[in-house]
Amino acid sequence: MISSLRPEVPFTLVSLLLLFATRTTAQQTAPFTDPLTGINFQRFFGAKTQFAFGIALPENPSTDFIGQISAPMPNGAGWAGISLQEDMEGPLLLTAWPNGNEVVSSFRVARNEDDSPPVVTGAFKVVPIPSGTAVNASHMTFTFLCQNCIGDAKIGFTASDTAGDVGMGWALASRAVSDATDPAAVLPFHNSGFDDFTALLSQARSPLFGEWALLAGPQGAASNGSTTPIPILPPGTSTGGGAGGDDSDDEGDDDEGGDDDKDEDDD
Ligand code: HEM
Ligand SMILES: *[C@@H]1O[C@H](CO)[C@@H](O)[C@H](O)[C@H]1NC(C)=O
Ligand SMILES: *[C@@H]1O[C@H](CO)[C@@H](O)[C@H](O)[C@H]1NC(C)=O
Repeated sequence: MISSLRPEVPFTLVSLLLLFATRTTAQQTAPFTDPLTGINFQRFFGAKTQFAFGIALPENPSTDFIGQISAPMPNGAGWAGISLQEDMEGPLLLTAWPNGNEVVSSFRVARNEDDSPPVVTGAFKVVPIPSGTAVNASHMTFTFLCQNCIGDAKIGFTASDTAGDVGMGWALASRAVSDATDPAAVLPFHNSGFDDFTALLSQARSPLFGEWALLAGPQGAASNGSTTPIPILPPGTSTGGGAGGDDSDDEGDDDEGGDDDKDEDDD
């Protein structure tokens, strides 16, 4: 009897370890239907800060995604941003802030964690989706088609990475940028919060993507993905692209005790 139970012991231990690992891991995205556009996103939502980032993909992802950054902007001030990997230094960052009733966005790459990350240019491009973009005195919602934002494993994730889970990052500031009209504005530190999260990209795909991309105007017509299907990995599978592979670079970022109080994990 006892010997027949023995083989279960390691499994119990493994299950406990897995449970522990699951609980200490970064938050992950969940399905969200945007009331403004009807787009079905996989969305990270931080309950403490109300920062949200949603992502939608075509059935056969290639280079483009639809994103939605939504966050409080007290008195119209602040900025919100995402990182295409779970790190600040190195990956492509997309930042957005209100300018009156409009949204200004800019791509950045950080070379350190001391300075406002400078503007970076490349093939990547944001096309705003007007029906999903709204600014009022206290909040900003920015919906956009991100063209050529998928494919470079050095600064983000690739189309094949979208078969599983990918690590990304978010950041939020409540203090004003140096000049809200200027895409190259100096950004103050993300005092409201920052962290990484897991984007369940295999679950962000939809055959409706082509229609949603058209909400960005005629330029969206080219954004319906590839004709080559990418198989979906079983749920919970991390592709490593943009995620695990970068963990060694992260060392210390969130573990340096002194900085942890600034780390808004929104648990
Ligand atoms: C003046 C501008 C900025 C400053 C001074 C700054 C500073 C920092 C510092 C010091 C950390 C590490 C904190 C720690 O070790 O606990 C950090 C982490 C982070 N920052 Fe920034 N940052 C800036 C802009 C940005 C921007 C524009 C983004 C994205 C759009 C961003 C995204 C992140 C993310 C996602 C992390 C967490 C990284 C991880 O989990 O490994 N930061 N930042
Ligand atoms: C601003 O927009 C947010 C998000 O749509 C909404 O929750 C909030 O009530 C709005 N505030 C005002 C003052 O209209
Ligand atoms: C986009 O591609 C999917 C197949 O991946 C197809 O079902 C859908 O009709 C296409 N949409 C548009 C607008 O072309």
